[in-house]
Amino acid sequence: MNAGIRHQSMNRAKFVLALLTLFGVGALLYRRQHPHLPCPSSLSFLLENPFMNRVAGSHLLLERATVQPGMRVLDVGCGPGRITLPAALRVGETGEVVALDIQPAMLERVQKKLTEQHVTNVKLLEAGIGEGRTEANTFDRVFLVTVLGEIPDKVAALREIYRALKPGGILSITEVLPDPDYQTPGAIRAMAAETGFVIESQMGSFPAFTMNLLKPALSLGQGS
Ligand SMILES: C[S@@+](CC[C@H](N)C(=O)[O-])C[C@H]1O[C@@H](n2cnc3c(N)ncnc32)[C@H](O)[C@@H]1O
Repeated sequence: MNAGIRHQSMNRAKFVLALLTLFGVGALLYRRQHPHLPCPSSLSFLLENPFMNRVAGSHLLLERATVQPGMRVLDVGCGPGRITLPAALRVGETGEVVALDIQPAMLERVQKKLTEQHVTNVKLLEAGIGEGRTEANTFDRVFLVTVLGEIPDKVAALREIYRALKPGGILSITEVLPDPDYQTPGAIRAMAAETGFVIESQMGSFPAFTMNLLKPALSLGQGS
């Protein structure tokens, strides 16, 4: 490797490290002051940045969840719509995305993007997951991307998602460090066992991984 290329790669690494530090420090400061509140819409830049695009970008996550045209997708804790809009384009006119978030300000951001980009196959749902506001047996895929740790009753949330999925449907969970609410693969496996999900696959690495949980096609559990 010549000196110019080495210099360029070092600069890129420093840039990614600086973003990572910014992300971590911002999130930790916020979490210390507001231990029980969801990530506010004013901190959306912590989600929509080159670091997140690199380790948990929307196209990577859509691939990992095997989202196909015509599917019905639920984006739980959609935030500013980082996954929602690319998912809507992927499922196309014959599919639909429901973007659910507990914060109206996040849904307003999503609505603005939908209007600007003329996307018409997304429904917004203001709700806390676990409150039972989603329809049963209607979704092919559900996303929970850096959300699980913010939910007070995680098992109730997973039970609602299990009920909302069609048999054979997949819940795709992504966790990224240094999110202060990061959930480990072990913690997710334990919750999956408690709620009837079967672990289908795990991708990525410990600091930024996706775990796909399957609602078995012949489900004897709740909501089947
Ligand atoms: C860190 S953001 C992640 C946003 C998006 N999934 C992404 O990866 O860009 C977490 C989001 O989950 C939402 N949230 C937190 N608790 C929730 C709950 N109980 N039900 C629904 N949404 C929730 C927050 O309002 C916030 O928009």
